[in-house]
Amino acid sequence: MTLEFHLNGRRHAVRDVPPNVTALDYIREHLRLTGTKEGCAEGDCGACTVVLAAGPEDARTFRAANACLLTLPHLNGADVLTVEGLAGGDGLDPVQAAMADGDGTQCGYCTPGFVMALYALRRGPEEIGGEIDPETVHEALAGNLCRCTGYRPIVDAAVKACGETGPGPGAYEAHEPAEAADRYEAGGQAFLSPVSLAEMAGALADNPDAYILAGGTDLGLLAAKERRKLPVVIHTGRVAELLEIRDEPDFLEFGAAVTYTDALPLIGRDYPSFATLIKRIGSRQIRNMGTIGGNIGNASPIGDTPPGLIALDATLSLHSRDGPRQMPIEDFFLDYRKTDLRPGEFIRSVRIPKLKAGEAFRTYKISKRYDQDISSVIGAYRIAVAEGSVRDARIAYGGMAATPKRARACEAALTGSAWTEDALMEAARAVDEDFEPLSDHRASAAYRSMVARNLFARLWRDISGVDEPLDVALIR
Ligand SMILES: Cc1cc2nc3c(=O)[nH]c(=O)nc-3n(C[C@H](O)[C@H](O)[C@H](O)COP(=O)(O)OP(=O)(O)OC[C@H]3O[C@@H](n4cnc5c(N)ncnc54)[C@H](O)[C@@H]3O)c2cc1C
Ligand code: FES
Ligand code: FES
Repeated sequence: MTLEFHLNGRRHAVRDVPPNVTALDYIREHLRLTGTKEGCAEGDCGACTVVLAAGPEDARTFRAANACLLTLPHLNGADVLTVEGLAGGDGLDPVQAAMADGDGTQCGYCTPGFVMALYALRRGPEEIGGEIDPETVHEALAGNLCRCTGYRPIVDAAVKACGETGPGPGAYEAHEPAEAADRYEAGGQAFLSPVSLAEMAGALADNPDAYILAGGTDLGLLAAKERRKLPVVIHTGRVAELLEIRDEPDFLEFGAAVTYTDALPLIGRDYPSFATLIKRIGSRQIRNMGTIGGNIGNASPIGDTPPGLIALDATLSLHSRDGPRQMPIEDFFLDYRKTDLRPGEFIRSVRIPKLKAGEAFRTYKISKRYDQDISSVIGAYRIAVAEGSVRDARIAYGGMAATPKRARACEAALTGSAWTEDALMEAARAVDEDFEPLSDHRASAAYRSMVARNLFARLWRDISGVDEPLDVALIR
């Protein structure tokens, strides 16, 4: 049984390597390509960044990913580039040359990761030879940490390299993709890669205790950090129905295996505030692999998308061998990390209603750092205002309870009230009826409650387009 993929243009066939080995360990220890580094082994530092090329020649994408979180079978049929693959006979890739010429090569540990993140940036979606603004570079590098010097020479190198035309001497060459395997087994562990909903349902019915693997940005930690054996893993990444995106007049629907990166254009069009929040989930590397389905399936009380999805009244489609089942997403989360999924069932898609006339939606993430940080509190609000008063309010919070949860007392206080700042701040007091948050290393209970209340002030200002200084007292 083999697993095939391309690495730097060369085809590899893997046998007898257990599927819980990370792509990073395989690249470094089996292939002895040690340019890709291990820093944190948990997706935070970017030292292990590789690039995955995919899609047809005229629409090929080059996306950065954390090799430490990818398990080896994530490379099934993939086309991988590591830092060793960039330079060619005639010299360095433009990114490497700009980094070297501009003193961006600050330490040997992080530089390969920076180079790969910038290579992906330069290859798209922004055009080669285009002007790139420092904001975009910042976003592309948020998952690559430097602790020694700073980012200025690296940002300068990025702007220079992205401004150059031409693909570079070691340019990626198109080739026949390696054939992806439907099944791979080694070391007493099995990796199944179904391609249809029916196959997925069958695989899960036959293996009800299997781990469902999407992007692996949560689950990959079991392999990367805990070195855990995963007896049976079922991957969602090739299931056609789980990769579907629907853009209908009344709703958007995302298959559970759609990555954040692929979902962002439509989310940005219809719910800009949601897109702003999603762009703060991890880093580009994380968003290129991570999925909304995984964020829901993980059922963390501090997952960033569930509060927004609850406030938007999204519906989940679940599926099993017994057939489909629909439910409002707010009913899916039963208790801390406990969901309503039945044995053999999985998430097929999430359907998000579009906003109607008079409705506004905002969602906010509060964390210690802006980039690459887990939330302390997430607030999400869908408000309908008509003739100066609140006709309807759906409000949900994350980080305030064991599950992402609606703030029903706040909703009741707001519905029917005048759309004024004072009325909003009055409704904000009801946060204390809705939630008794916990204290942990991210935030104290008192801080969480205070933030949750005072997000109403931001909500008012955002929706009303007010940018003068606050004229209401924050609720302490
Ligand atoms: C460095 C780093 C930063 C992060 N930052 C953030 C952040 O800022 N905000 C945030 O919310 N999260 C963050 N995460 C967590 C993670 O990236 C997200 O939860 C992501 O959405 C998980 O998606 P995935 O596809 O990688 O899921 P996976 O890791 O593949 O799976 C996650 C869980 O969902 C289950 N699952 C996946 N697909 C299905 C399905 N179709 N049906 C049923 N169950 C399923 C899996 O079995 C598993 O339990 C971060 C993670 C890392 C490593
Ligand atoms: S080793 Fe740090 S992100 Fe992978
Ligand atoms: S470049 Fe490695 S710590 Fe700064």
